[in-house]
Amino acid sequence: MVEVGVYRGNFASQILRRCEAIEKYYMLDPWRHLDNWNKPANTEDDVFEQILAEARSRTDFAAEKRVILRGKTTEAVDEIPDGELDFAYIDGDHTLRGVTIDLIRLFPKVRPGGWIGGDDFCSTIWQRSTEYEPTLVFPFAVYFAEAVDARLYALPYSQFLLEKDETQPFDFVDLTGEYGDVFLRDQLDPDRLLKVKLLETFPFVKRAGRRIKRLVPR
Ligand SMILES: C[S@@+](CC[C@H](N)C(=O)[O-])C[C@H]1O[C@@H](n2cnc3c(N)ncnc32)[C@H](O)[C@@H]1O
Repeated sequence: MVEVGVYRGNFASQILRRCEAIEKYYMLDPWRHLDNWNKPANTEDDVFEQILAEARSRTDFAAEKRVILRGKTTEAVDEIPDGELDFAYIDGDHTLRGVTIDLIRLFPKVRPGGWIGGDDFCSTIWQRSTEYEPTLVFPFAVYFAEAVDARLYALPYSQFLLEKDETQPFDFVDLTGEYGDVFLRDQLDPDRLLKVKLLETFPFVKRAGRRIKRLVPR
């Protein structure tokens, strides 16, 4: 399998510990400052050196299975032969640009019958504050599934799973009930944007709203 976006190696170490059947684990991440990646995890090069050291030491117990690919997806993904992977887990750049690149470049690396999963499949594109680029794993992954005629599941904890199975036509199976329609119009509605901005500027309004909800019996 491959994990795209490894950071400190927390996910990698858990998966490697719990899934003994994994034979090879590609860890793909640039571990460097990226000028045009406007997300909170972006930091300075020297900090990324420490983060990489942490990822290494956390996964040293599985060093014989681990292959470190240091680079952006576009720079490193072709180290993986087409069709080699049973599973690709995407947790790198969640902007529209990032998820577009990751899904298009990872798809041929997964064997027929394999799976692509990923994190940050959030029902709102405003996952972080509006000073950051929006997160567009949802709905883009659904559009991608439709383009390649595959079935895509929405799972709990903002995870998605795409089944690369030629016998299954496109379907979006929402196992959480959290996702509305797959269009952007509602999310970009000016009234909704104003609400997002107000709640972000005055966080106490959100806290007060939550308290009131708890006090008022249903
Ligand atoms: C949210 S963190 C990953 C967390 C990790 N999967 C975990 O659960 O422990 C995002 C990572 O994506 C990496 N990243 C950002 N842009 C990338 C790109 N274009 N290609 C590959 N990785 C990228 C960052 O360096 C960062 O380490």
